[in-house]
Amino acid sequence: MVERIGISLERDLLRRFDRLIRRKGYSNRSEAVRDLIREKIIEQEWAAPAGETVGAVFLIYEHEAMHLSEKLTQLEHSEFHRIVSTLHVHMDQDNCLEVIVLRGPGRELKRLADRLISIRGVKHGQFVPGATGRRI
Ligand code: NI
Repeated sequence: MVERIGISLERDLLRRFDRLIRRKGYSNRSEAVRDLIREKIIEQEWAAPAGETVGAVFLIYEHEAMHLSEKLTQLEHSEFHRIVSTLHVHMDQDNCLEVIVLRGPGRELKRLADRLISIRGVKHGQFVPGATGRRI
């Protein structure tokens, strides 16, 4: 069920908001406000010590980097209960991209992502927090 609400805003703030959502491609304010609220709820999920959420780690590394592949595989196996899926892409002759999807309590996922990204030889690592979609 959808309920309607009214919001009072300073004119300047509203103008800035309209500019922002136009740049982001929203066709109306309601959809933009809904997304902002969902974003805040997801932020809370990530701060909570328990509960379940999902995220993805992107790693770029050279497959010939000393022992890196072994270390990565070792860590992935020891954390199998948190790793939902991995995708390996051979980018070119030397570089690999690995996308690792994690599932579990937010704080644990962040810690695991940090461990993955800090493996010696990883050229670039990025963690993208997501949401299960259940509470939004
Ligand atoms: Ni590869």
